[in-house]
Amino acid sequence: MNELPTTIVIFGASGDLTQRKLVPALYNLRRKGRLPANATIVGFARRPYGDQVFRQLMHEGLLNFSQETFDASLWEQFAPTLHYFQGDLGVSADFVRLQAYLQELENGPADRLYYLATSPDYYQPIITCLGSAGMAAETEAAIAQPDAMPAPPKGHRHIVIEKPFGKDLASARALNQAVHNVFTENQIFRIDHYLGKETAQNILFFRFANTIFEPIWNRNYVDSVQITVAETVDVGHRAGYYDVSGVLRDMFQNHLLQLFTLVAMEPPASFSAEALRNEKVKVLSATRAIHPSDMVCAQYLGYCDASGIAPGSRTPTFAAIKLYLDNWRWQDVPFYLRSGKSLARKVSEVTIEFKRPPLVMFQATYDADFTPNILSLCIQPDEGIHLKFETKVPDSFQETRSVDMEFHYRSSFGDGALPEAYERLLLDALKGDASLFARSDEIELAWKLIDPAIQVCESADAPDLMVYDPGSWGPPEASALLQRDGRTWRMGCMEHE
Ligand code: BG6
Repeated sequence: MNELPTTIVIFGASGDLTQRKLVPALYNLRRKGRLPANATIVGFARRPYGDQVFRQLMHEGLLNFSQETFDASLWEQFAPTLHYFQGDLGVSADFVRLQAYLQELENGPADRLYYLATSPDYYQPIITCLGSAGMAAETEAAIAQPDAMPAPPKGHRHIVIEKPFGKDLASARALNQAVHNVFTENQIFRIDHYLGKETAQNILFFRFANTIFEPIWNRNYVDSVQITVAETVDVGHRAGYYDVSGVLRDMFQNHLLQLFTLVAMEPPASFSAEALRNEKVKVLSATRAIHPSDMVCAQYLGYCDASGIAPGSRTPTFAAIKLYLDNWRWQDVPFYLRSGKSLARKVSEVTIEFKRPPLVMFQATYDADFTPNILSLCIQPDEGIHLKFETKVPDSFQETRSVDMEFHYRSSFGDGALPEAYERLLLDALKGDASLFARSDEIELAWKLIDPAIQVCESADAPDLMVYDPGSWGPPEASALLQRDGRTWRMGCMEHE
């Protein structure tokens, strides 16, 4: 990291995300000595706070959401680096004032990270205002003289854009266009917090830092892949946002498709952001359009009774989708993705089911009970990796049983070894490493895939919306989606709890 001062400007600083995630992550980075020593954090929002009130709120946030790492003496050093600037998102005069305020604070060139932690409606106005206030350019405007000196660098200007990035392909394209009018692609960091999770990052390390798995990671050995991101929570206080989003926009377009690309991509030529993202884009480009009969969407019973939900809302809170990739590695291997709210357990996992042996010569019958090898990448909550294989039952003649070879982060690396996703993502955005952020083409391809599924799910002439009981694993149709292919949903990460 260079020696210029660093300013992190959080737009929407009075919101939940800032208090629960962003400031605790920045505080923890400072605690670990990873935040630039001269970093300043400026919260921008409309509420009439001053520095003191803002610091007090962030202090409460740390106590509530990062209690185990709270250190009062560190807080005394950290608090003065927090500032608050009152302004209206989308009012250009307020950005001119903000620019003057920041220039005074920085007193010279400085690296800046702008973080859009607002409602998505404000993304475009903020970006436009940043552009018109001259806050996006990294150099002074070039002077139109052939022998002019190179413009003095102002420092980096990076922008982090929270999800959702658009609500469909058209709006994502429009947002990409708006942001590209003001920032270049290498200044832009479209966040997906799943990519910041250690266990999601580890998918690539598991695949490419070992030699034994990659040779079998293809259609010759893999029968099918499942990706489950299940939540027990319901829509809670986010009804307003959720009812116009639903599970396909909220979870599939981003988190599930990101996990899918990490599992399916080819080895990149290097670990650079461009090489990695090129491979992810190839996966999305090769993914076959979703056939309506390969998807199930449903709503948990009682969803429409929650306050803030439109009466008779058809918004799906659960979906299961079968995807196929038309490429050499994955031809004819189904990828089953499912996610939902109000389900039986909170668990995120990727399960690779391998093909059955061509012949079972033991007395064990080759029937539905015979378990194939299953590799489960456990993203959360019990982070780890499980490999299930058949073993001879001791003292039996030829009976076999599945056993589990397990790796748990907790036992190998200790409690507290897994940082919050936002720590890593904020640090990478500050450094300018976009490996764990979505590129514009990636976002658009993901929408291109999900848009038709949303239309099928939400169209007025779609069959009656399926329903499921809160606390279940979704509607029976989700099981039927696999049963008709002779498969079942696997839960490789939870079996031993
Ligand atoms: C968010 C969604 O992106 O991810 C939420 O908007 C969801 O609806 C959350 O609850 C799940 O994240 P995690 O990290 O708890 O699995």
